[in-house]
Amino acid sequence: MPLTSEVDGDGHLRVGGVDLVDLAAETGTPVFVYDEAHLRARCREARLAWGDGTAYATKAFLCRAMAALAHDEGLCLDVSTGGELHVALSAGVPAERLVLHGNNKSDAELSAAVSAGVGRIVVDSFDELDRLERLACAPGRGRPPSVLVRVTPGVEAHTHEFVRTGQDDSKFGFGLASGAADEAIARARALEAAGVVQLAGVHAHIGSQIFWLGSFDAEVEALAAWFAPLGLDELCVGGGLGVAYVEGEEAPTITEWAAAVKDACRRFGVPASARLTAEPGRSIVGAAAVTLYTVGTIKELPGIRTYLSVDGGMSDNPRPVLYGSGYEAFLPRCAAADRPWTATIVGKHCESGDVLVADAHLPLGTHVGDVLATPVTGAYGHSMASNYNKVPRPPVVFAANGRYRVVVRRETVEDLTRLDE
Ligand code: LLP
Repeated sequence: MPLTSEVDGDGHLRVGGVDLVDLAAETGTPVFVYDEAHLRARCREARLAWGDGTAYATKAFLCRAMAALAHDEGLCLDVSTGGELHVALSAGVPAERLVLHGNNKSDAELSAAVSAGVGRIVVDSFDELDRLERLACAPGRGRPPSVLVRVTPGVEAHTHEFVRTGQDDSKFGFGLASGAADEAIARARALEAAGVVQLAGVHAHIGSQIFWLGSFDAEVEALAAWFAPLGLDELCVGGGLGVAYVEGEEAPTITEWAAAVKDACRRFGVPASARLTAEPGRSIVGAAAVTLYTVGTIKELPGIRTYLSVDGGMSDNPRPVLYGSGYEAFLPRCAAADRPWTATIVGKHCESGDVLVADAHLPLGTHVGDVLATPVTGAYGHSMASNYNKVPRPPVVFAANGRYRVVVRRETVEDLTRLDE
């Protein structure tokens, strides 16, 4: 649950001091509600645990308000496309606080990043090095960009295979085992000598939603002996720390994660002089938000199951469909009530796979018209939302100190035809 969650005297859940039942009545549903204090606390924790240069991975959740908040709390921002770059810059985040990612950066994306003066570019392919070299000859180009070389350490992180990125068979980075990483470093050094780039260090990212710190240990073990003799300034270990979604799950804190990685760096011989950085996304924003829906229909299939339909679904949370991810559900009007009733929460989309929570536990007396909440929807929910079935995307609100502000408005039906010629 978000940090400031509390059950008030009426049994209602408050986040940031705001009654979620009242909020839903005012904004309508579905709506993503973020606890601003939670977001700030996690950003501060990351900044403290990892130090300067640590970046919030904006792919987890991005809008101008979030970009400004993360910057305000001292984090850099990891942007992985020209679109994320645009949003971060338009929020007023200085370009030097941005790190550009992507396994297929276009000429346009690279040139926008270089001319804006982004802090670091994480180079992912030989083609990208060629592009940077060509770009260096472009008229009006500023100082050589600072780059990290992304390395695939050959580590299979303990997580869903769709979000594993550190194994040898990966579209990301330069393989350590194949020698591609050595070749990339040699190329980057040659480009540095030619004044095209400045080689700042090495980057790796082994995957996402990782609970087991041993995976990061394996990452550092794979990298350390190779990284140490390079004499480079920075080693970024990426993001990937998991968050607990359902009862019984437990995730390490950001502080514990950083301590474990630092310890591994000491044990495996990463030079103490190297700046160690990370790029957490989910662990900053995941548990900060709940999504509020309204129950629209309840269909009991005797001897089979009960379907409870809400006014959103796979368009605002595709994670259950994509990764089989589990969620909890509860009613904000009686947040602490027992949940002995079982129903499968489905969305309003035209396919049977549109399941949000299979066999959810809910209070007895859950009825049509109730506001229902699913917690831990702050990461990869709004950012992966779609307009499937031409369902307008929900708004995002930040709640703090008894008030809330709409930071992304609800899409309207007019928005749905805005791009049609
Ligand atoms: N750095 C890089 C290079 C990444 O590719 C990612 C995530 C992160 C950092 C942040 O990872 P985090 O701390 O959030 O785990 N849509 C999937 C997750 C995809 C992660 C993509 N990359 C999901 O909903 O589970």
